Amino acid sequence: MDFNFDIIGGYLPLFLRGTLYTIGFSIASIILGSVFGLGIGFGRMVKSPLWRWPFLAYINFFRGTPLYVQILIVHFGLVPAFYGSTNALISGVVALSLNSAAYTAEIFRAGIQSVDPGQREAALSLGMTGRQSMRFVVLPQAIKRMVPAFGNEFIVLVKDSSLLALVAAPEIMYWGNTMKGQYMRIWEPYLTAAVIYFVLTYSLSKLLSYIERRM
Ligand code: ARG
Repeated sequence: MDFNFDIIGGYLPLFLRGTLYTIGFSIASIILGSVFGLGIGFGRMVKSPLWRWPFLAYINFFRGTPLYVQILIVHFGLVPAFYGSTNALISGVVALSLNSAAYTAEIFRAGIQSVDPGQREAALSLGMTGRQSMRFVVLPQAIKRMVPAFGNEFIVLVKDSSLLALVAAPEIMYWGNTMKGQYMRIWEPYLTAAVIYFVLTYSLSKLLSYIERRM
């Protein structure tokens, strides 16, 4: 196995740009996905089965079908329908956010339901409204417990954003594929991509365990 570092050198600026896109996709999707997921998560917890049903269906659909398929549906179906034409950047953020929302919805639900019901009862007995007990008593405890799962979700997003190369979103894997196409070589492009992803996820997990320890 000969390893040609020169061709990596030539592609390094592109990989660097791809890395910025990967980070951008991940950050945008964890934020949008969490906001959306919060709504889905609350919807998933309403008492009436009739109102709960659409939220459950959403979660089951996005968790039960491959992200690969979802990206294609969003890129060639959803985005052209609303935006007028395909756009890999929009599709990337939308597909990842929609997918992540299904997972964060469950993280929210699990976090909220992990708080002992007695906490809410105590808050209510002190005269708080249901909303206040959620805001001041349940959520502060629940959020603490959600942090590890959220960190995990962020790391998953960094890695799964590689699937966006499918629709030519210019992230890391896209440049890996381009490099492979140009030089007909396997090790240089894909090992470079693997190293970049590893550096990203490893530093992220270190950062997250630091945050968890501080909490
Ligand atoms: N790799 C999974 C798939 O192809 C997507 C998993 C997404 N997971 C997540 N926690 N956002 O369907």
